[in-house]
Amino acid sequence: MNESNNKNNATFGFKKVTETEKKNLVNNVFTSVTERYDLMNDLMSFGLHRIWKKYFILCSHIKKGDKVLDLASGTGDITKLISEEVGKKGLVVSCDINYSMLNQGRNNLIDSGILGNIFYVQSDAQLLSFENNSFDHVTMAFGLRNTANISSALDSIYNVLKPGGTIQVLEFSKAEKIIEKPYDIFLNNFVPFLGKYVANDENSYKYLAESITIHPSQKDLIKKMESSNFKNCKYNNLSFGVVSIHKGYKL
Ligand SMILES: C[S@@+](CC[C@H](N)C(=O)[O-])C[C@H]1O[C@@H](n2cnc3c(N)ncnc32)[C@H](O)[C@@H]1O
Repeated sequence: MNESNNKNNATFGFKKVTETEKKNLVNNVFTSVTERYDLMNDLMSFGLHRIWKKYFILCSHIKKGDKVLDLASGTGDITKLISEEVGKKGLVVSCDINYSMLNQGRNNLIDSGILGNIFYVQSDAQLLSFENNSFDHVTMAFGLRNTANISSALDSIYNVLKPGGTIQVLEFSKAEKIIEKPYDIFLNNFVPFLGKYVANDENSYKYLAESITIHPSQKDLIKKMESSNFKNCKYNNLSFGVVSIHKGYKL
């Protein structure tokens, strides 16, 4: 264990924890919510997450034959869309740290009759062991916020991208002023309420709300991407900044 793992330099919601503690706590959250994860996403976002995800892939410019790493792939929504984009000559690696989520994703994708172009890998985004310079694109949807150390995940992603490759992150962000108040009430009351009565797990959905509140703003995330050497970094807001898409290039 290195020295930084002993310090409370990570956050689990509003709590300061060590990176190792965050990893374990986040792992417990996703093991606990796996079964109701897809239903909760539909209820919490009123189905909007499906549109965000489709638009995210539309912006990615992933093409036939590409080799793509979908990080924090969870129950497989993004992996499925990428699998269709890259076609039979391409491939997508569906990668998640949590066995339960990865396995649920695999089952979902098999049920939906996807192409045979998907590989499943259980790994921490911060410790990717793929060869350097091996992917055309890396995508990460609603995952970066859950890593114990965002910069270390970005560094690790940078290494596995080919020169000219792109990173694209879909993540909750700072909502615009116009919806700030109602969104805050929605996040801190309605989301844990749904978590309690639908997923039978109020605490995991409190964590979700808190983790969104403290996640770096759009501009701060750009700074982190630039510190990890990504170039031409930009973002665009969806749904008044409730979520944003960040993109950067390895040149
Ligand atoms: C909110 S889910 C997102 C799932 C999927 N991408 C989606 O958009 O529906 C977050 C996922 O990130 C995974 N995750 C958390 N920390 C991770 C890490 N350090 N490395 C890889 N995956 C991680 C969790 O296990 C979980 O499956």
